[in-house]
Amino acid sequence: MKKIFYFVFLSSLIACNNKTEDKKEKDIIKKEEPFQLYQMSEMAAFMENMYVDHQRIKGEIQAGKKVDSLHYDLSKLFYARMTDSTDRDAEYERKAKLYVEYEENLIGDSLQQKENYNKAINMCISCHQIKCTGPIPRIKKLLIR
Ligand code: HEC
Repeated sequence: MKKIFYFVFLSSLIACNNKTEDKKEKDIIKKEEPFQLYQMSEMAAFMENMYVDHQRIKGEIQAGKKVDSLHYDLSKLFYARMTDSTDRDAEYERKAKLYVEYEENLIGDSLQQKENYNKAINMCISCHQIKCTGPIPRIKKLLIR
């Protein structure tokens, strides 16, 4: 049970928060609904899976291993339900397609894994800059310096 609360608490911290960027606004929302649980959308849950898989991939690249598969379903980027469905616009589709291309390069080209990996992570950041700025600091930690 404790675990669940911790997860919910964490989720509320990392949630996509560019739409309530105003700090005061966020505080008010928190005060009014102290026990409202953050409901993760299908897309948000998918993004979390993608995040975890990139922690694995980063580790493997750093250990000099060859990464040849993704442990998450890339196609969900195109059909998972979002918190705000209007986010799925032409710009989203364009960046999503590029991201998929970079992920395919990552697992297809074992000689430039680090470069291809960072390119994909930079595309996560690029899409987040227009769609969902909240998780950007977390995503930056995935980059291989
Ligand atoms: C084409 C655009 C796009 C790309 C590429 C993208 N994201 Fe996202 N991401 C979104 C959108 C839109 C949301 C908000 C989803 C929602 O709330 O339904 C989101 C949400 C998230 C969240 C927050 C989930 C939560 O707890 O609310 C994380 C973390 C995340 N993305 C990580 C990543 C990582 C890591 C990558 C790359 C490996 C990535 N994203 C690539 C658009 C993108």
